[in-house]
Amino acid sequence: MITLKNIVKEYDGKQEGSKAVDGLDLEIKKGEFVALLGPSGCGKTTTLMMLAGLLKPTSGEIYFGDRLVNHVEPKDRNIGMVFQSYALYPHMSVRENIAFPLRERKMPKKEAYERAREISKVVQIDHLLDRRPTQLSGGQQQRVAMARALAKNPEILLLDEPMSNLDARLKLDVRDEIRKIQRNLGVTTIIVTHDQEEALAISDRVAILNGGKIQQYAPPNELFTQPINLFVASFLGNPPMNLVDGVVEEKSGNQVVVTNGFEYSLPESRKLDREHIGKQVQFGIRPHDISITTGEDPRGIRVKVDLIEHLGSGKLVKAIDSEEKLESMIRLLADNETPVRSGETIFIRFRDDKFHLFDKTAGGLNLMQYR
Ligand SMILES: Nc1ncnc2c1ncn2[C@@H]1O[C@H](COP(=O)(O)OP(=O)(O)O)[C@@H](O)[C@H]1O
Ligand SMILES: [Mg+2]
Repeated sequence: MITLKNIVKEYDGKQEGSKAVDGLDLEIKKGEFVALLGPSGCGKTTTLMMLAGLLKPTSGEIYFGDRLVNHVEPKDRNIGMVFQSYALYPHMSVRENIAFPLRERKMPKKEAYERAREISKVVQIDHLLDRRPTQLSGGQQQRVAMARALAKNPEILLLDEPMSNLDARLKLDVRDEIRKIQRNLGVTTIIVTHDQEEALAISDRVAILNGGKIQQYAPPNELFTQPINLFVASFLGNPPMNLVDGVVEEKSGNQVVVTNGFEYSLPESRKLDREHIGKQVQFGIRPHDISITTGEDPRGIRVKVDLIEHLGSGKLVKAIDSEEKLESMIRLLADNETPVRSGETIFIRFRDDKFHLFDKTAGGLNLMQYR
């Protein structure tokens, strides 16, 4: 298990109060695949570099198992690392590149080359061992970098945006590959990425960072369906979650979210504590949690279709409330067979088990209790 306890990192010369990493706590289980996900500058690489030992935390502790490693040199940490720029040595063959960290550790050449051959099989580049990096495609170079990181049989694999130089199609293959290799070897892996799809697809758990702080650390599905705050909710999802300003009111025994465009009465099972009545909130619902209904539906909301985008797998419908008072359109997903045209009036319905309410007065905290 890897444990980060209250890690703070301030770079020299940075303004006071601006911490690259700001009180980070994280636990990563043995064999787990964890992603650090967040916008550019949120502290992902800094965190990874501290795990690698290439940077020292300003305060806080890093443990590998029971062992405090704050002052352990990178070479004594038993980690493998793949950076965004793979930095392969161009004058060396693939074999020599992979064997390089072993040769540095004084492993005899024969043994190091044998190990390089073994690990090159795992990442399926054993037919390329005599080539130079320049004679390889981007995907193959990426595999060489993986093989080099894995050659030492590390306990921990650290990957910093390892796929950002690959084209979209190749990314999908490579990320499956990375996941498979990781499973087979059982190596604890931490990947840094700003690509939410990649993080969600590949990881056991994802830590979402913003401003040097962890916002939420959970399995992908939980992050998506039970976001702890507005940041997580709006960061994840494409098309993004619909967010509408509103106020929670009590009307004849019901709790109702009143917005400029519609009123939504909370179902009995998802009522808020009374203390929240009168609060300014953001009502959130994901596009695929909105369905098209009929005018007879008592929970239907009348809207006008403004735009339709064809996604191939379905349609993205952008609708505006009938009075056109909402600040932004409501996006919903419909299948290709649903007959819906721009300009037409339709009725939509929110899934009662899927909406969220974010407290505008408390940093966007999600007020829904998940049971
Ligand atoms: N060597 C450095 N010196 C000063 N500030 C740095 C240095 N490296 C990163 N930072 C700052 O620390 C913050 C976090 O950076 P980083 O960890 O690289 O973010 P990420 O990898 O999430 O994009 C940013 O504000 C960045 O500008
Ligand atoms: Mg980075």
